[in-house]
Amino acid sequence: MALFALVPAAGSGTRLAGAQPKQYLPLAGRPMLWHAVRALCGVEVENVFVVLAPGDTEFARHDWSAFGGRVEPLYCGGATRRDSVYNGLVAASAAVDVDDWMLVHDAARPCVPRADLAALVAECAADAIGGILALPIADTVKRAGKDEAGVQRVAATEDRTQLWLAQTPQMFRAGLLAQALRDAKGSVTDEASAIEQLGLRPRLVTGSRENLKVTYTEDLAIAAAILATR
Ligand code: CTP
Ligand code: MG
Repeated sequence: MALFALVPAAGSGTRLAGAQPKQYLPLAGRPMLWHAVRALCGVEVENVFVVLAPGDTEFARHDWSAFGGRVEPLYCGGATRRDSVYNGLVAASAAVDVDDWMLVHDAARPCVPRADLAALVAECAADAIGGILALPIADTVKRAGKDEAGVQRVAATEDRTQLWLAQTPQMFRAGLLAQALRDAKGSVTDEASAIEQLGLRPRLVTGSRENLKVTYTEDLAIAAAILATR
């Protein structure tokens, strides 16, 4: 069984006030997407499929030669992240066997540590279902509710002991994942939630806080600082 990676990079970055979609914002002299691809190429993936918006003109402007031809752009992004990943899996299926492993990783997580990736691959390759990088919640968790005046107040304090934050990469067999994403109901914001709808329980592999998702403008400086330490 071979290992492949797929990076959805067809979003528009509406929560981050940038001049261009965040996957192309410069970080340590390279577009954010480049760092996500580099991390994936640090484990033994055959190819990294990058799912782009159909009208993307930015990808071709950058230099991907560091990855020795392993990066393959697919111009088939969809309206949601879930659509982009599903379309990418369909487009990649000519080169990928249904039983091959697929690592799906956000372009918006450029700082995933090599050790986290290695742990995910090692633990999931020995697992019947696959799994995800995730982090036990460290903060106290409050449930919110508005009072009569419309002010947000604490409605309850939640038990955090069983709560984890899902990260990417998420690693599943390509065929199972495509089927799960195709058939999933409701809001599907990661691969695992589609797999869960099949009644399967993805493995949780402990990641780290360095693997932040760049979502808001202030996250860019944090990501740049993390990359500068390497
Ligand atoms: N993504 C995608 N196709 C979409 C939406 C998102 O490929 N239709 C990708 C993004 O490019 C990103 C990843 O999914 O790599 C995670 O999404 P998110 O962090 O939400 O990025 P955006 O959707 O671009 O940002 P926002 O939600 O703030 O608009
Ligand atoms: Mg989004």
